[in-house]
Amino acid sequence: MLRWQGRDVISIRDFTREEIESVIAKAKKMCADHELLRGTVLASLFFEPSTRTQFSFNTAIQRLGGSVIGFAGSESSSIAKGETLRDTIKVVEKYADLIVIRHPLEGSARLAADVASIPVINAGDGANQHPTQTFTDLYTIEKFQKKIEGLSIGMLGDLKFGRTVHSLAMALTRFEHIKLRLISPPNLRMPVPILHELENVLTYSETEQLDLRGLDIVYVTRIQRERFADIEEYEKVRGTYVLDRKSCEQLKPTATILHPLPRVNEIAPEVDQLPQAKYFDQVQNGVPVRMALLTLLLRGE
Ligand code: CP
Repeated sequence: MLRWQGRDVISIRDFTREEIESVIAKAKKMCADHELLRGTVLASLFFEPSTRTQFSFNTAIQRLGGSVIGFAGSESSSIAKGETLRDTIKVVEKYADLIVIRHPLEGSARLAADVASIPVINAGDGANQHPTQTFTDLYTIEKFQKKIEGLSIGMLGDLKFGRTVHSLAMALTRFEHIKLRLISPPNLRMPVPILHELENVLTYSETEQLDLRGLDIVYVTRIQRERFADIEEYEKVRGTYVLDRKSCEQLKPTATILHPLPRVNEIAPEVDQLPQAKYFDQVQNGVPVRMALLTLLLRGE
């Protein structure tokens, strides 16, 4: 029996394969039901910009009969007057049933969960983790490839600062016979501690070449400009990889191109028309996946 009620969603490491698959299975069955979470209040605390994550949580809770309080940008909250994150969480939990937090500091969501007596969902903590994006990614992969196990998956772009690829790589260790190809400039490689987690669990290789041959999934990421301490270092790697129609000629017809979005220039708009391009479906899938998670955490089933 899986225990869901009252849990936090902070790191994908906290979830077994069985739990991941139960979220995917539940998301497949979700449909609007305004009685399911009627009267529930979701606190949406976004200290960093967001379109998809924030809006999909807002949509998810409203489709289940709940409502949203919160802010986008701390300048409109009492954080601007010097209130600590700890105190903010202690206050918000008096108004809400669940907290969704995005914050630039790694570990901030864990801190919030330690302080709060209500469930906390990490909507992205710095360059660390983005677990609900990973649930969405795995749902999307399973939807288009009909399986996760045994796939060849390429991750492309900023593997150093990209929190979505950190979470996804860790989640893939839960599935058998995965082959991971990590494609990045040398200074944006997957962090060594994460590589250690992958070792002996799945097969991975690292390359600088835009080699997409044989891949089932191409997971493209944006170079995370906002995480660079030195803007000149960003300028050196900006535009290193651009997926265009020419480079996509390498792709298998059955491949799936994903991107957590937003994109800047790493996927040319002309690629959107290709049958392999599924990143806008991926956006859409964020709603049923978050509906499933909210229901599990607030109702336990
Ligand atoms: N995928 C994602 O996290 O997008 P947002 O930054 O718009 O939430």
